[in-house]
Amino acid sequence: MAAAGSAVGLGNIWGFPTQAASNGGAAFLIVYLVLAFTLAYPALMAELILGRHAHANAVTALAGTSRNPVAQWIGRSAGVVGFIVASLILSFYAIVAGWMMSHCLSAIASLVGANDLARWLVEFGLARNLLFMALFMGLTVAIIHAGVRDGIERWSSRLMPLLLITLVLLVIYVLTLDGAMQGLRVYLMPDMASALSPKLVISALGSAFFSLSLGVGTMLIYGSYISDKENLPVAGGLVTGVDIGIAVLAGFLVLPAMYVALNNGVDIFAADGSLLSEDTLIFAVLPALFETMGATGGLVSLCFFFLMSIAALTSSISMLEVPVAYTIENHGVRRHRAVLVIGVLIALVSTIILLNFSTLFGLVIAVTTRYSQPLLGFVFCIYVGWIWHRDSLLQELQRGAPNVESTLFWTIWPWHLRLVCPAIILLIFVQSIR
Ligand code: PHE
Repeated sequence: MAAAGSAVGLGNIWGFPTQAASNGGAAFLIVYLVLAFTLAYPALMAELILGRHAHANAVTALAGTSRNPVAQWIGRSAGVVGFIVASLILSFYAIVAGWMMSHCLSAIASLVGANDLARWLVEFGLARNLLFMALFMGLTVAIIHAGVRDGIERWSSRLMPLLLITLVLLVIYVLTLDGAMQGLRVYLMPDMASALSPKLVISALGSAFFSLSLGVGTMLIYGSYISDKENLPVAGGLVTGVDIGIAVLAGFLVLPAMYVALNNGVDIFAADGSLLSEDTLIFAVLPALFETMGATGGLVSLCFFFLMSIAALTSSISMLEVPVAYTIENHGVRRHRAVLVIGVLIALVSTIILLNFSTLFGLVIAVTTRYSQPLLGFVFCIYVGWIWHRDSLLQELQRGAPNVESTLFWTIWPWHLRLVCPAIILLIFVQSIR
């Protein structure tokens, strides 16, 4: 549940539907599904297995795969880069999650008639941005402070079912509104011409890696907390399934909602005829849609942004756990001190981003999610596929799955991880920087 909570986040409910909307609807969906199963799932397995074997963070785990000092050094460095990237991801994630919380509170403020407050909460301003980033970081710190069982596991298993229920209710409601069917058509009828464009494939790969929390050691650290009795290929399959399922479900909410908005007179196309996307979509089109719905709109808006805030929280705790686990395990720092110091440092980085918003925000997102995550994912594939001894890998899997050697998973996965995953990641990466 915790790993599924990490995977399901703004990437699924915000990132996936908005990218699908601007990249040919169902075409993006198909490419995303293919990449998620063929690339992201094998890479997720690599992290989970290595984490459980090492029972330690990525820095120690990667270095422990080999006796060769050079390989150990590169592994350790990749682990360190991973925890820096995880912290940087949290620094922008906390800003966006803060907006989700402020929109949620704004809906409550409007419902009770505090209209000035409601307006202030949705207006882009430094004070509001800082306040809500700090609030969100405070919540994340509080959960991580409580530890793995009482913090991460308890809150993930409470919040995830709540998220699913809210999402399903919202989808059902939006699909009953006028205009929704047109959105559904865009979502489900593929524009195959755009399916193979490099731009689409690159964003779908980035999306799949971000969505499954790969490359930065998050899943590795969760793997290190999994019991030895657990069947890892099945657990990883479930996490992938839930993650993809929620992203696809969120598409059934956001795309129809856009066309309901169009039906209600809200502009959803930019001047050049393309669909508005990303932040404009969630923070302009959807609120405008909720406004056109009259009294129910306030309630729907409240539910939607509440959903977003929960999804963000179960992911942000997994990001903060990466540097925290490293500091506890490798430097003997106590949990409460590690959490506080790292939490404050990351909030400071978020503050710097907010103070230089136009230059830094997009840059940090691109550097961390478009470049670092796939490249670090590549390193994990190489270490688990080539450097780690195959017998040791098999033994690790057999702990929770004694018959794994005769399964399809063991026949395909090791070779797939050694050859196919690194090759495709590199190919797509080279395309993206050309
Ligand atoms: N998977 C999360 C999402 O979809 C984001 C995330 C990335 C979480 C990296 C942890 C590490 O929003």
